Amino acid sequence: MMEFPETTSPDERATSGVRAVDYDAELQLHDGAFRRACAIHAHERVLDIGCGAGKTTRDAARAASAGSALGIDISAPMIARARELAAAEGVRNVRFEHGDAQTHPLPAQGFDVAISRFGTMFFADPITALRNVRGALAGDGRLVMMVWQALEANEWSLAIQGDRPQSSAAFSLADSAVVERILDAAGFADATFQDVHEPVYYGDSVEAALQWIGQFQATREASRSLDAASAERERARLRAIVAQHHRDDGVWFDSRAWIVSAGCR
Ligand SMILES: C[S@@+](CC[C@H](N)C(=O)[O-])C[C@H]1O[C@@H](n2cnc3c(N)ncnc32)[C@H](O)[C@@H]1O
Repeated sequence: MMEFPETTSPDERATSGVRAVDYDAELQLHDGAFRRACAIHAHERVLDIGCGAGKTTRDAARAASAGSALGIDISAPMIARARELAAAEGVRNVRFEHGDAQTHPLPAQGFDVAISRFGTMFFADPITALRNVRGALAGDGRLVMMVWQALEANEWSLAIQGDRPQSSAAFSLADSAVVERILDAAGFADATFQDVHEPVYYGDSVEAALQWIGQFQATREASRSLDAASAERERARLRAIVAQHHRDDGVWFDSRAWIVSAGCR
């Protein structure tokens, strides 16, 4: 199970009358730390792995004003959305390709930096994927990826999933020792872990937050597996939890992530 929403666009969701949330709004307090850690220079060539709708790819392209950014993602609808948004924002030095990071052919030493905001935890074979990425980096290249810390440190997941079995994919890179081993096997070295402790934003109202949570694959799968009475109880449980987290400035849940930075070996 993944903790990110499927492919509904904010425009589609806005038609319900509720002000729609999207993944970029959810992570608004994570962005500054991630951009600073990426520290993209003007001439750099950037690869964004699991780029989704491409917010971090566009940000990287803007920073690499004399360079370029390529986003890759396994989801064709996400890549289509990323292309639309880049065109709408007039970002010209950015491209998107549909592909699996584990197998997608990438030019040898074609990039100076590989970045990923919550895109590297879902690989079936993380060593193969990161080795592929490593092969695409210049010898002095670097990797910067944001990943969730352990489930127990992430209130959003504990709250949403309740006592249902917890998803592990989103937290597969939570353990720094595991990440170091994977990075070493993939050809990276000198990993550092920056603690990012910021809440995630789920919308300006309880309805908006429930609509957003309803997009999550884990929520969809759970509701498909429940009978009518259990599904009703689950909706009531979620509504109560969301209401508890509704502050003057919207619905927020605590979260904790790592920014993992590494160089090439
Ligand atoms: C949580 S989303 C993050 C999206 C984006 N990085 C962002 O911050 O908006 C994870 C993304 O990883 C992509 N993904 C999962 N497995 C992948 C793979 N094997 N290769 C490429 N992308 C993958 C998903 O399609 C999804 O868009």
